[in-house]
Amino acid sequence: MKKLFIETYGCQMNVADSEVVASILSNEYEITEEERTADLVLINTCSVRDNAEQRIHKRLRELGAIKKRRPGMMIGLLGCMAERLKDQLLKDEPALDFVAGPDAYRSVPNLIEKALSGEDAYNVTLSKEETYDNIMPLRYAANGVSGFISIMRGCDNFCSYCVVPFTRGRERSRSPQTILAEAKQLLADGYKEVTLLGQNVNSYHYEKEGKVTTFADLMEMVALLSPQLRVRFATSHPKDISDELIHVIAKYPNICKFIHLPVQAGSTSMLQRMHRVYTREQYLERIATIKRVIPECSIATDIIAGFCGETEEEHQATLSLMREVGYASAYMFKYSVRDNTYAATHFPDDIPEELKTRRLEEIIALQQQLSLESNQQDVGKTFEVLVEGTSKRSDEQLFGRTSQNKVAIFPRGNHQKGEYVHVKILSCTAATLIGEVVGE
Ligand code: 5AD
Ligand code: SF4
Repeated sequence: MKKLFIETYGCQMNVADSEVVASILSNEYEITEEERTADLVLINTCSVRDNAEQRIHKRLRELGAIKKRRPGMMIGLLGCMAERLKDQLLKDEPALDFVAGPDAYRSVPNLIEKALSGEDAYNVTLSKEETYDNIMPLRYAANGVSGFISIMRGCDNFCSYCVVPFTRGRERSRSPQTILAEAKQLLADGYKEVTLLGQNVNSYHYEKEGKVTTFADLMEMVALLSPQLRVRFATSHPKDISDELIHVIAKYPNICKFIHLPVQAGSTSMLQRMHRVYTREQYLERIATIKRVIPECSIATDIIAGFCGETEEEHQATLSLMREVGYASAYMFKYSVRDNTYAATHFPDDIPEELKTRRLEEIIALQQQLSLESNQQDVGKTFEVLVEGTSKRSDEQLFGRTSQNKVAIFPRGNHQKGEYVHVKILSCTAATLIGEVVGE
């Protein structure tokens, strides 16, 4: 067998996609964790911000240097950057042998053949149907406890800043049967948690012979497989997180009480420029419903600082919304212009870099405080934790997650990866709950 090394950047969807590609190539290649001995190196890329792309260009130069010493090695680039930059990448990056976009992974074996025969090898065709439905991913990177299942691809929302609808194409959902088959396989392999993945899982919609399956239906079907299997999902658009879904989350103890509901900005005027199609008030109403129906739910978000035309007042509105919701965690970014998006063609990128930095720093500082407050509220309580492994800080400690997606660390005792334990929280930092196992 030849050796395959895969490096994945960007979102969890990319992690799931890399597992699909590993599966497509598994007749000829086995995974190695050593790039220096690999026959084939694949880089699965992200285009969501310019700095993500710059990192990958830098990495390709490093790999080019390794390849000079090992001329037999091939390098392929997958994912969103492939889709955005297409065959230009082959011209600009001499280290690359081939390029495949997110809907072209079935053609990777052909692209390898083509590259070997010295032809230009790229396929960036987007599809309206491809969901890799019949491919069982090779879970080479998973920890054996928690696995990803991709349930849909693409995005039709066209937020004005976002490149994803251009790089991943139109939205399409996979059949519930193959999703359930994958979840059952994970269960049979000893996994204890699945995360259902898509750019916007709430608009999951599958229709066959007049029978419609919604995301709430799908969550329920997966939750019913086993009470021992935790179910998570990522990520949701606030415009269509339905009451039905919120009630399903509340109903099943094994559906995790954690919702990632990216707000992006806190003022209705900014949300309008972002084409988010909800107002501040509508977003806060969804949050109020979540808190009422699932009081123990923790909520996370994504926020962009310094989007086009952002006034000080709009920035303050983002901070006040963060306080009002009391997010447990957040991913926070500076706005980065992406070619071809609505914002790139219609609005000037007019917030100076220093101001973007200052606003982002304020957002991060506030979130740090909110995360700490959220964790402090857990001190003294006991949570069911799914053990994921040994803590990075100490061999004597294990770490795992609560249903609320918070990381907890505690003394190892006789416990092991994959076990559920009850942990009483004794103290915390902004990032971690610290506790001890109880009830033995
Ligand atoms: N600039 C900065 N952040 C962005 N995101 C998406 N597009 C951009 C951009 N052009 C952020 C959003 C999204 C997350 C995946 O990345 O917050 O939710
Ligand atoms: Fe981008 Fe909006 Fe799609 Fe998320 S939902 S990927 S922010 S276009």
